[in-house]
This record gives sequence, C-alpha cells and structure tokens, in this order.
Amino acid sequence: MANATPNILIADDQRDVREALRLLLKSEGWACTPVDGPAQALEAVRRQRFDVALIDLNYTRDTTSGTEGLDLLRELRKLEDALPVVVMTAWGTINLAVEAMRHGAGDFIEKPWDNQRLMSVLVNQLALARAHRREQRLSAQNALLRADEAEGFIAESPSMRRLLDTLARVAPSDANVLILGENGTGKGVIAQRIHEASRRAGAGFVKVNMGGIPESVFEAEMFGHVRGAFTDAKSDRIGRFELADGGSLFLDEIANIPLAQQAKLLRVLEDGELERVGSSRTLKVDVRLVSATNADLAGEVARGAFRKDLLFRLNTVELQLPPLRDRGEDIPLLATAFLARFATRYQRDGLRFAPSALAALSAYAWPGNVRELSHAIERAVLMATGDVLDAAAFHLAPGPVAVGQGAIAAAAALTASANLTVEQAEEQLVRQALVQSGGNILRAAAALGLSRPALYRRMEKYGIGD
Ligand SMILES: Nc1ncnc2c1ncn2[C@@H]1O[C@H](COP(=O)(O)OP(=O)(O)OP(=O)(O)O)[C@@H](O)[C@H]1O
Ligand SMILES: [Mg+2]
Repeated sequence: MANATPNILIADDQRDVREALRLLLKSEGWACTPVDGPAQALEAVRRQRFDVALIDLNYTRDTTSGTEGLDLLRELRKLEDALPVVVMTAWGTINLAVEAMRHGAGDFIEKPWDNQRLMSVLVNQLALARAHRREQRLSAQNALLRADEAEGFIAESPSMRRLLDTLARVAPSDANVLILGENGTGKGVIAQRIHEASRRAGAGFVKVNMGGIPESVFEAEMFGHVRGAFTDAKSDRIGRFELADGGSLFLDEIANIPLAQQAKLLRVLEDGELERVGSSRTLKVDVRLVSATNADLAGEVARGAFRKDLLFRLNTVELQLPPLRDRGEDIPLLATAFLARFATRYQRDGLRFAPSALAALSAYAWPGNVRELSHAIERAVLMATGDVLDAAAFHLAPGPVAVGQGAIAAAAALTASANLTVEQAEEQLVRQALVQSGGNILRAAAALGLSRPALYRRMEKYGIGD
C-alpha cells in the first residue's frame, strides 16, 4: 500500500480547475477522481478509498463565504476521519483557510496555485497519513507484545514495588520523566509502561536512540525536513517529534547527545515549536518526554558535557531503577520466568535448575543486570545437554574483569578463566566497559580501545541497548 499510486479526490465546481488539477496529477503518475459539488464528493468517498481530498470552499458562483466548503469538510471528517483534506481558497481569504484548519483540514492552498507547492502539500499529507497509519499498526502490535511482557514483568522486591508505586502516580500526569539505571535494568520496559499508564496510551510511543543518530542528520531525524533541504532530501519527511505528536517521545541514551544538538533540543522543549529543516513554517507539537540513560547525568553536567537547563527540562520526575544485585528477591523469580520462556521457545520442556544454579545466580553481581540474566539463561538453555542446569551452565565470570588494558588481552583472560567463546567474552567486556563508564559511550570505547562506531556495531551485534 505504501507504494501504491496515490488517489486524490478533487472537488471544485469549475471545470477548468478540475481539468488543470487532473492533468497535473496525471503528469506525476497519480490517480484522481474529479467531482463538481459537495454531494458528489461525499458520494465518491462512500464508494472508494482516497488518500487525500482536495476541495474548493465555494461551489455556487458568486459566493465567497466558504460555508459550503466548510460544511463539506465537516461531513468528510465525519465520514472518514483518517482522510486528509486540503482546502483551496481564493487568494486573499486567509482567514477562511485558518477556519478550515480549525475544522480539521490538513493544509490549504491559495488559488491560483503554484504547481510545485500544491504537489508538496499533497506529498506531505500522504506522508503524514502514512505515518499515522503506521503508528496505529505499531501500537496495535505493541498492545499484543505488551500483554505478553506485562505478564512477564517481575517486580517483587521492595525497591521495585516502590518504583512501580511512583510510576503509577506520575504516569497519568504529563510530567517529563527521566529514568536512570545501569545497563539492562529495564529502563526501556519502564518507559513503555509510563506511556501505557498515561492518558496518551492511545497515541504513539516513539522511541529514538540518541546515541545512534549521526550528528549530521540529527535535526532532520528529530524535526523532519522538506524536499530539497539538502542534497539527499528527495521528498518531505516528518521527524520524530511530529510522529510522536499527541503521544510520548522516548529519548533513549540521552547522555549521548553532543552539546550543539542539546541546544536545538532545548528550544523545542521550551516552546513546543519546531521547524522542519529547510522550512520556515513553525509547527506546534504536543509531546510527553520520557528519557533514559545509564550515565551519571549530574556528573556530566558538572563536567560541562551536558546542559543543566536541558537536564531540568527532562527530569521533572526522576525514576531510579535499582541494579539487579540490589533486588535479590527478584533474581530467582526472573531466572525461573526466563527459563520457562526459553525452554518453550527452544523446545526444551522439562529443563530445570539444580539448587546450586539458583544459589550461583543469586550470588552473582550481574553487571549487565536483567538483560545479562536473560542472555545467560537463554545461552544455558541452548547449550544444555541434560535436563538439569547446574551452576556451571551459566559461565558466570568469577570476578570483575579489568578493562582499559587492551580488550584482546582481557578477552583472552576471560575466555580462559570462564570457559567462554571469544564472542561471549567480547560481549561481557563490552557490557562491563559500559557499566564502568556509567554508560558513557565515548569513555567505554576508549577503555576498550575501540572507536565509537566500532563500539556501536558490537552493541548492536549483542543486542546491548535494544
Ligand atoms: N523486571 C523485569 N521483568 C522481566 N523482564 C525484564 C524486567 N526488566 C527488564 N526485563 C527484560 O530485560 C531486558 C532489558 O531491559 P531493557 O531493555 O528495558 O533495559 P535497559 O535498562 O533499557 O537497558 P540499556 O541500558 O541497555 O538500554 C529486556 O528484554 C526486558 O524485557
Ligand atoms: Mg534501553
């Protein structure tokens, strides 16, 4: 459907207008249905699906009030509220256009129109409608995933119960929430829960990994761009803020935004206004921000690497996720839940823990927290030869591993001591470096002797930061 020929409904009482529009759209390879009045327009929408309706505001010669058009607009919205409507107004009647926008028109163009502007308005409406449909699909899918995950979400320890209490209190407000916690403690899951427990649950939850956006495309990615804004901008594109309009925007790994970009973000947060790159039209967005980081943001502020005023915008409420080692009660519960999940997934029903296994899992420090526990169990399930998993099945590293002295030597030491494959050792090193750097990608990369992109590639490979 995304690449299907766009189909446009044209409603105008003047034959030459309809004909000119038909030829223009045809030259772009688009399909259209021209009709000459409101009744015919409604009839057409009842019969077939359109991507955009382009409607005139006046249908009787010599009228200029626009009432007929506004009525048609209202009827169309009632009939098919997902259909974007663009209104055509006579030159100099901008107040009518404003009125139409207030009644739900997506955009307007003035007659006589400029072909290029008309096409760009239509392309824009198509993109918005498509994004809207995608969001709805995603949230329907998320609802299914959520039901699954909500069941599996384990929080029995006192510290996690307290955290969920706080979450229940703050989620329904529109307050911006900053989630702090080590790698793999469940920040992503909590962010999603905040959205679901909020009044915005029906709208989009848009996630952006701030560490993963190259600086050069930051603005285009966040704020969108118009066609021709730069060499590769072949068409208009809406940004993450617009995509999250009415819903929540989850800025993950927030500490990784370079200073120059922090200033740009701050401006949008301060006035809720933005411009797409290459456009001077100011757009208003209504977005609830949830951000997360495993870095020590206060420390980053003290070092001058993170703007204090930005931090104050983000942390209206702060949620601190405790590391897994401080919520011992949850370890056996999580381990058991993960064992059940992976045993089913890999058809290893009947697998169970030896008592020594649960003791060892509870005693381990879990630098990679819940995610590391889940991976350890998945791996153990995959490698299991019998029906009982004992402590040795999890390859728990005996103690903290030194990083910063050369990743290769450390990996060699780790493979030898803990009986890991090189890949498993590399994964552990990457995780530990991230924990020790407090989530600071640059410092972790330096400690491992890797470049930032090289570290990102490994994080991606091992699913760190998903
Ligand atoms: N309390 C929990 N109960 C069950 N599963 C959990 C819980 N917390 C986290 N998980 C699972 O552990 C994994 C890691 O969680 P998540 O990705 O939310 O962590 P994170 O803090 O965002 O990590 P990172 O700092 O690496 O981005 C996910 O697969 C998640 O579903
Ligand atoms: Mg995360």
